[in-house]
Amino acid sequence: MRPATRVAGQGLSPIRRMSLDAPADTVDLGLGEPGWPAPDAGPRAAVAAPSLGYGPNTSDPALVRAVAGYASSPAHDVAPEQVMVTAGSQAALFALFQAWVEPGSTVLVPDPGFVAYPTLARMCGATPVGYPLTADGDLDAEALVAALGEQPHTSMVVLNHPANPTGGLASTQALSRVAEACAERGQLLVSDEVYAELWVDRRPASLRDVSAAGVVLGSMSKAFAAPGLRIGWALGDPEVLAPARLVHNAMTTAPARLSQAAALGLLLAADEVLPAAREEIRVRWETVDRVAPEFLTSGHRLLGDGHQNPMSRTVTRAGFYLWLALPEPLGRAACADPAGTEAVALRLRDEAGVTTIPGTAFGPRGAGFLRVSLGGPVDVLEEGLRRLAPWWEE
Ligand SMILES: Cc1ncc(COP(=O)(O)O)c(C=O)c1O
Repeated sequence: MRPATRVAGQGLSPIRRMSLDAPADTVDLGLGEPGWPAPDAGPRAAVAAPSLGYGPNTSDPALVRAVAGYASSPAHDVAPEQVMVTAGSQAALFALFQAWVEPGSTVLVPDPGFVAYPTLARMCGATPVGYPLTADGDLDAEALVAALGEQPHTSMVVLNHPANPTGGLASTQALSRVAEACAERGQLLVSDEVYAELWVDRRPASLRDVSAAGVVLGSMSKAFAAPGLRIGWALGDPEVLAPARLVHNAMTTAPARLSQAAALGLLLAADEVLPAAREEIRVRWETVDRVAPEFLTSGHRLLGDGHQNPMSRTVTRAGFYLWLALPEPLGRAACADPAGTEAVALRLRDEAGVTTIPGTAFGPRGAGFLRVSLGGPVDVLEEGLRRLAPWWEE
């Protein structure tokens, strides 16, 4: 027996590979999950949950209404029928890909970008094509529209902002330009905004600020600090969500009932939970400022091209990832060999005692960079930064 072609060649992700055989006292700045305690409004609501029945396929109507209310803004009202609650935003992505991506078509994904996007495209028999970001890791609308011009068989375009792994953002102008280009071509635009609530200085722009088209993703996993609930959502036109609901129902029937109850409890407490999460994030960025300020100006190189760029990067303080350029000569050596960035990350793991994720795990344009997660406990972050910092000294 052989597994189906759609899963052939899918191996262990380089993110998981970094933690295999890690020395015992390694500090882990690899995993992308919040390290502050989950607010107790979630567990309290789950314990009080009245039913363990299946419930509606479309989830508890009270949760759907709460997501709609939470996602509505003065500029854009979200109706309950525009909400699809899923088993994490990962399941929303899976369902949308299965529903809208034709075999043989192309899916445009950010490079560097979240590792699931290319995998999900391949599982549909489609080809993921990476589009470049700006040197700061932000959305570069012109580069994306140029990639669309080169890929006439594109079925879906995926944006992610604040971005994993670069922390980059998307301006309202860039979002409008991309939304118009996708609408002209009849391509589905998916805007993954699961880190949107984790901002330090100002709220990042959303696709919804400029367009009612496309699908916006949100999640309980980041700002609500509850990734184990596995609750996320997709917001969009009911006709766009309808085929994705079929896929999601076939896969899960409905998200777990206890998780739905906990998610509802957290959403009802959003006015306390979200400012507290932003405070957690602010403290972590300040820890970088204090312990390794040079990391915040480390980008003297255009993303992945290996050449010196005289301008240093502007690091956006949103989300919980620091996109760290390797110091020279390590950076140059890492860019010269496709396996070089992973080799440096493994060296830092084994010699400095810190797990980070090699930039190439997120696409070839991640060469020469590491993703450092700031999400974990502050004392762990501080120790990890102290161990790494000497490698960046001249
Ligand atoms: C950019 C991005 N999108 C989606 C997800 C999936 O999150 P979840 O399924 O927990 O909502 C992640 C998880 O790390 C992510 O980084």
